[in-house]
Amino acid sequence: MKIEASKINQKGHLMFGGLDTVELAKKYGTPVYIYDVSMIRHNCRAFVDSFKKQQVAFQVAYASKAFSSIAMMQVAKQEGMSIDVVSEAELYTALQAGFPVERIHMHGNNKSEAELEMAITNRIGCIVIDNFYEITLLDRLLRKHDCQMDVLIRVTPGIESETHKYIMTGNVDSKFGFSIQNGQAEQAFLQLQHHDYIQLKGLHCHIGSQIFDSDRFIMAAEILFDELRDWNQKYGFVSEVLNLGGGFGIRYTSSDKPLPLEVYAEEIVKALKQYWDGVDFPFPEIWIEPGRSIVGEAGMTLYTVGSMKDIPGIRRYVAVDGGMADNIRPALYEAEYECIVANKADQPDREVVSIAGKCCESGDMLIKDIALPDLEANDIIAVLATGAYGYSMASHYNRFANAPVVFLENGVDHLVVRGETYKDVVRNDLPYEE
Ligand code: LLP
Repeated sequence: MKIEASKINQKGHLMFGGLDTVELAKKYGTPVYIYDVSMIRHNCRAFVDSFKKQQVAFQVAYASKAFSSIAMMQVAKQEGMSIDVVSEAELYTALQAGFPVERIHMHGNNKSEAELEMAITNRIGCIVIDNFYEITLLDRLLRKHDCQMDVLIRVTPGIESETHKYIMTGNVDSKFGFSIQNGQAEQAFLQLQHHDYIQLKGLHCHIGSQIFDSDRFIMAAEILFDELRDWNQKYGFVSEVLNLGGGFGIRYTSSDKPLPLEVYAEEIVKALKQYWDGVDFPFPEIWIEPGRSIVGEAGMTLYTVGSMKDIPGIRRYVAVDGGMADNIRPALYEAEYECIVANKADQPDREVVSIAGKCCESGDMLIKDIALPDLEANDIIAVLATGAYGYSMASHYNRFANAPVVFLENGVDHLVVRGETYKDVVRNDLPYEE
């Protein structure tokens, strides 16, 4: 792979966040997730500045499922982001980071009573209602606490995004949200429009992930607009918020061609302004929920090469000291990644190899068929763009300990999540015999 000269130091090592990745691998051990914090900030600002430039009221809510940690919540807070959380622990992480509660939004297709109570008692900014069961539950809990809550209704606009079927969410046959087409969204609206405790602020949709053009977002926006116009005519409803979710694509490999982040925001707002031009109810606040596009390309994972195996005429396997336990995406979605040999970043590619993980599973392959320089044991492999849904989807398969996370900024490295030890892994185990 061609690497920009500015990313290679005089030792021929890959630089990231102003630091030598080979030195980082030595210092923290491998596997390790490293993040260039200035890139995270840059991505947050791309969205925020674009909305500001277009002079619309907005919230950019970082979808913390992509990568949640106290340090990450602090960066999101510093950048003026809102956040979306989906569980008690994601909410707890945000609270621990001192994230402003009014900018926290809660999602989930099966929010538990405990999750909703935690949201209510901490007075978070908004709950995105997903189903009729949740309306009943929330109604009961808000009465119990004698508290009001702002909500959005999550709707499925009936759009299929061109993405892996496991990360597609906006189509009718989805476990998320109320369908517009079959009238369930309107039924939910009628239950909520004049509610004493539930303050309906508007609509939400999330059409899927890793979407490379703005057309689908605009299509979804138009469907939601039509619905809102209809509800305005029939019931006098004025939506204060329109939330179009996340899903903005990123570059995992050189064949991925995402739009610059600010362009997504520009094109969506431009389209929305046209829709609202012809009506006499006010333009709503626009919310979006980018996850992957904030942290994906800002992270990479460093591994050390161990065993290598040649199957003549078939493939050369190069095994590293991590794999599906720290990055499930290739096994789960056939996701593709690229990598750089960090200690040989200035050397030409010589052979096509496949990078295998070390879990006891044939599907534990990180990269199939990539041209790399000559490899040997103890080389450091940097798998690129692992910042989203890597650490956050890590598992303990084979009882591997979770890898540490290190933030890099202004040439300084900062450990923000300690790596687990094998003792941490058995921490909650209890004996069954004396
Ligand atoms: N908002 C909602 C309601 C979502 O469900 C999601 C992602 C997002 C925002 C953020 O989407 P993003 O901007 O990150 O694409 N584990 C999969 C992705 C699952 C996404 C689930 N929801 C992956 O590794 O590709």
